[in-house]
Amino acid sequence: MTLIDFITAQAARLKQAGVSFGHGTTNAFDESAWLVLWALGMELDALEAQARRELSADEQAKAQALISQRIESRQPAAYLTHEAWLQNVPFYVDERVIVPRSFIAELLVDAEGSGTLDAWLSDQTRRVLDLCTGNGSLAVIAAMAYPEIVVDASDISDDALAVARINVEKHRLAKRISVLKSDLLADVHGPYDLILCNPPYVNSQSMDALPPEFRHEPRIALAGGDDGMDLIRTILRDAPRQMSNDAVLVLEIGHERAHFEHAFRRLEVAWLETSAGEDEVLLVTRDALARWSRA
Ligand SMILES: C[S@@+](CC[C@H](N)C(=O)[O-])C[C@H]1O[C@@H](n2cnc3c(N)ncnc32)[C@H](O)[C@@H]1O
Repeated sequence: MTLIDFITAQAARLKQAGVSFGHGTTNAFDESAWLVLWALGMELDALEAQARRELSADEQAKAQALISQRIESRQPAAYLTHEAWLQNVPFYVDERVIVPRSFIAELLVDAEGSGTLDAWLSDQTRRVLDLCTGNGSLAVIAAMAYPEIVVDASDISDDALAVARINVEKHRLAKRISVLKSDLLADVHGPYDLILCNPPYVNSQSMDALPPEFRHEPRIALAGGDDGMDLIRTILRDAPRQMSNDAVLVLEIGHERAHFEHAFRRLEVAWLETSAGEDEVLLVTRDALARWSRA
C-alpha cells in the first residue's frame, strides 16, 4: 500500500473512532499524516514527495500500532510523539503541560516574518513577560521574533516550568529567557514593556463538557472558574504595577468573549485578528488598565 493510501485509511479509522482534534490538527487526515509520518521517522513535510512510496508490512504495523494507541488512550497525538509544532517551531511536550496552540504565536510571527504586534511595540520594547508560560512556547517564539528582547517565562506549576526549561535549552535561549515560578504576577519583577498571557480561561460548564483528549491535559492549565474569568480578574488588577508606561498586555481568552465583556464592562481593549477570528485575543494598554481600575 502507498503512503498516501495508508494515511487515508488510518484517517478513516480515527474518524470512525470519534477521536477529537484541536491539539495541532483540526481533522482526521492531518492527524493521521502526523502520526504515520512520525512513526516512520519521516519529516512532516515529506508527504508530498513520498506519497506514492510503497510501505513495507513492518512499517504499516508500526504506524497502525501508534494510531491504535491514539484511539484507545484518547491522548492528544503530541503526548504520544512528545513533540508539538507552533509557527513551524518544534517544542517538547508531555502530560505535564497543555499542548501548545496559542493564537498569540501568530501575532508574534506572520508570513513575512514581522509580527502584527509591531504597531504596539517600539524600539524601547526590551523586557517581555510570558505569563502562564506552560511549555515556554510563547517565550521562545517571542525571543526568536524579536532578537533584542529578554523574556521572563513564569508559571505556578513546577511541572510546567520543568518542561519550559527543556524548550528554552532546546532552542539555546537560556541567556535571553529566564524561567521562574510565580502565582500570576505575585513574584515576577517588572516593569515589563510587553506581557503575553494565555491563561486558564475555560468556564465550568465547558470544563464539564470537554472531550477526553482535553481531560488528559493538566486541569490547572484550563479551568478558569464559573465564568472562566477567575485568573483574568487577578491579572488585570495586578498588571499595571508590573508594566512600564507604554506597555501593553496581550491576552488570549478563547471562546469567552461574552464572559469577558460582562466581567470587565468599562475596560477599553483592542481585539486582535488571528486565524481564530477577532474574539479570542485582545490587547490592553497600561493606560487603559489604570483608567479602568480608578473608575
Ligand atoms: C492555557 S495554559 C498556557 C500555556 C502556554 N502559555 C501555552 O500557550 O501553551 C495556562 C498555564 O497557566 C498556568 N497557571 C495556572 N494557574 C496559574 C497561576 N495561578 N499562576 C501562574 N500560572 C498559572 C498553568 O500551569 C498553565 O501552564
